Amino acid sequence: MPALFSWEFASDPYPAYAWLREHAPVHRTTLPSGVEAWLVTRYADARQALADQRLSKNPVHHAEPGKTGIPGERSAGLMTHLLNIDPPDHTRLRRLVSKAFTPRRVAAFAPRVQELTDRLIDGFAGRGSADLIHEFAFPLPIYAICDMLGVPAEDQDDFRDWAGMMIRHGGGPRGGVARSVKKIRGYLAELIHRKRGDLGDDLISGLIRASDHGDHLTEAEAVAMCFVLLFAGFETTINLIGNGTYALLRHPEQRALLQSSLAAGETGLLETGVEELLRYDGPVELATWRYATTGLTIGGQPIPAGDPVLVVLAAADRDPDRFGAPDTLDLARKDNQHLGYGHGIHYCLGAPLARLEGQTALATLLTRLPDLRLGADPDELRWRGGLIMRGLRTLPVEFTPSAPRHG
Ligand code: HEM
Repeated sequence: MPALFSWEFASDPYPAYAWLREHAPVHRTTLPSGVEAWLVTRYADARQALADQRLSKNPVHHAEPGKTGIPGERSAGLMTHLLNIDPPDHTRLRRLVSKAFTPRRVAAFAPRVQELTDRLIDGFAGRGSADLIHEFAFPLPIYAICDMLGVPAEDQDDFRDWAGMMIRHGGGPRGGVARSVKKIRGYLAELIHRKRGDLGDDLISGLIRASDHGDHLTEAEAVAMCFVLLFAGFETTINLIGNGTYALLRHPEQRALLQSSLAAGETGLLETGVEELLRYDGPVELATWRYATTGLTIGGQPIPAGDPVLVVLAAADRDPDRFGAPDTLDLARKDNQHLGYGHGIHYCLGAPLARLEGQTALATLLTRLPDLRLGADPDELRWRGGLIMRGLRTLPVEFTPSAPRHG
């Protein structure tokens, strides 16, 4: 039985996941926090569990509520968001947010994402080396979502600092994080209040306007919604860009194929490629918490009511019963129904934005810095292995210096 949640595990969890899929596909384990939970690692079981409404997202269904170690669990109100609730409340909130956070709004945002991407690359293009996590993958999603929400430019660096604090502490329930969460809540409440009197084109104004048969988001619901949009979307997208770039640098043939297809002005390989990077080494290792509301079985394994169930997306997405040559990175992979964005009613609301950011970031990096290469020995790279996310702490790169695009 391989050791789970160790340092070695964080840098390469896939051998352990292969072992679990084979020998203990629904496996009860003790998490680093001391909480006992079931890990579901096979694709078929994972997909079924994600869609099983007897598995609740609401922590009140945990046998020992209050002990899950979910960051901010006790911040009443703010945590009443999509990822912690079930139908019918979830259905109602998801319908309202979907009126404002539309694929159309995301598509219209593409030029802004390109501009942000170029501006960040301008910051280091002339230098010949950079840490792609700190200088690129980290700031891009936070500035993008702040912009989309309508957070004024002069306040966006505060969000960058808050986000940095949350990420450095792995989202753990420490004092600094609790203070950050409180600050963000206060800031968002005030911003939403201000926007209410002066609606614009931004997403917060869209959320305030959103109505479904006369129903609207309350002030507290709007704050919690902005919070989940910020925090479901930043560490995930950092890891998509970080893990994705790293995988490309480690697979020169695949990277060369992508570069020549981009040079020919094609986008097909970029689109399938970003999906494949999500499958191959996705940002979200484990889907967020679920709790059995009743006794049930998964893959033949009885699960008692009250037990937490964690669906291991990263294990399911390498299941040889679902994917041919699952450990091979194939940017052109067809039939790639990966679970990187989840499945069922909690399927990632931000997937269109994540795809836009991932595609723009990777295409622009490879086009502007065509000889991009790793600036460190892969064995020296450290991985941030929180329970839910998996990503690189730093990604040192080198390249031939080039001129900024925007002077
Ligand atoms: C839900 C992955 C980016 C907002 C989810 C879930 C996954 C996921 C796996 C489902 C969790 C579960 O069922 O327990 C990702 C990945 C991303 C990404 C891999 C980037 C590559 C984003 C972005 C946003 C976002 C950019 C918003 C700006 C959300 C929200 C939910 C969600 C609001 C909850 C949906 C619901 O419960 O109805 N995401 N996400 N995500 N994601 Fe994402």
